[in-house]
Amino acid sequence: MIHPKSKLRALWDGIILLLVVYIAIEYPLRYILNYTPTKILKIMNILTTVFFCLDILIQFRTSYIDRGVIISNPKLVARKYLKTWFFIDFISGVPFELLLNYTGMYGQLLKILRLIRLGRLLKLFKMNTILMRRARIYNVQPGIMRLLIFLLWISLFAHWIALGWLHLGGVSDSISFSHQYLRSMYWTVTTLTTIGYGEIVPVTSEQTIFTILVMLTGVGVYGYVIGNIANLMSNLDIVHASHVKRMEKVNAFIKYRRLPRNLRNRILDYYDYLFERKIGSDESDFYNDLPKSLVRDIKLYLNKDLIAKIPFFKNASDALLTELVLSLKPVIYLPGDYVMRIGEIGHNLYFINKGHVQVISPDHGGVLATLSEGSFFGEQALLSDEPRNASIKTNDFCELFTLEKKKFQDVIKKFPAFAREMELERILRDKTHKL
Ligand code: CMP
Repeated sequence: MIHPKSKLRALWDGIILLLVVYIAIEYPLRYILNYTPTKILKIMNILTTVFFCLDILIQFRTSYIDRGVIISNPKLVARKYLKTWFFIDFISGVPFELLLNYTGMYGQLLKILRLIRLGRLLKLFKMNTILMRRARIYNVQPGIMRLLIFLLWISLFAHWIALGWLHLGGVSDSISFSHQYLRSMYWTVTTLTTIGYGEIVPVTSEQTIFTILVMLTGVGVYGYVIGNIANLMSNLDIVHASHVKRMEKVNAFIKYRRLPRNLRNRILDYYDYLFERKIGSDESDFYNDLPKSLVRDIKLYLNKDLIAKIPFFKNASDALLTELVLSLKPVIYLPGDYVMRIGEIGHNLYFINKGHVQVISPDHGGVLATLSEGSFFGEQALLSDEPRNASIKTNDFCELFTLEKKKFQDVIKKFPAFAREMELERILRDKTHKL
């Protein structure tokens, strides 16, 4: 059985989609102009038939997902397929042309055949389903996908309307076909967009009725576009939009409180950094809505770099990791900030995810050590209940994770090996710095 989200399935969907678009362009063209197909078109025809037939088989062999459960039982798959798309796939897939050719009825049934061929266009109804499915799998914004589908449909519609206008003799046939088509498309676009310059006008009754219908369609399309595009544009980049909104509030605050230039610059630098690094200021709302197990997996994924950088995290048991990962809180410091000062009471332990910090000596203010990604600091005050024994100053933008004292003590109680490993790490670190 084929997995509905597999690469093979995606490739197959892509091919079917291209063929559907191809027939949507070529079949009506041939229906209106009634030309004999060239060799390439004949090959394309055979290819389409073969692929559409195979598509029926592939559908019978593709599992489906029902309320989160993957169903691979061939009987259930077949039942679901027969109830949904089978009819359309059958009409568009069965090679009626070959059958009629074979039975020698080709000549008599030419008219029916042309209609049957158009039946293949029914497969167009699957286009939206295929595209929306892919959008979900590849995480394309639904709004963008809807716009793309709309553009595809409107292009195909324009093509069909242009052919209809040609069929009704709306354009003089004294010019070459490509020019006729171009003029007809020009008429379609001006009528559909309700611009209507009026240099190509309906003469016969059929042409007039056709024009009225196209105009009415145009009004509908126009309303749809205006209504949706504005909505789509405002939703296109929600992250950017919310950043702009937040910056408006921040700027208003800075102005209202008349903050000095250097503080203002630091605030703006901070928000710019958040935006550049794609870090949301408050993600807790997002986690509140999700089940705990999922939050754990997301946090494990998001902190996987940190976990890989810190040796005792790498070897930690699953239970310890879960405990830590759910309690770690991200914080950001700007270059030159003091994360802690000597003599303060310690409330947090810190892990460095990105950036460098300097450990500043209590006696002469010199730099005792520079700690980088994967290191931790601030554990001594928590372990010994004494004030901080050094100050910590950032060198550059620092992304840290903090663990509160209470949580740290809980973890140590539950996993005494964690404290031992931490002590070992610290001794090793001190030794390396002394070397
Ligand atoms: P704490 O005393 O809680 O706060 C200051 C922190 O600086 C301390 O914990 C250690 O984590 C760290 N620290 C102190 N001295 C050194 C050193 N010589 N090398 C590296 N880190 C240190």
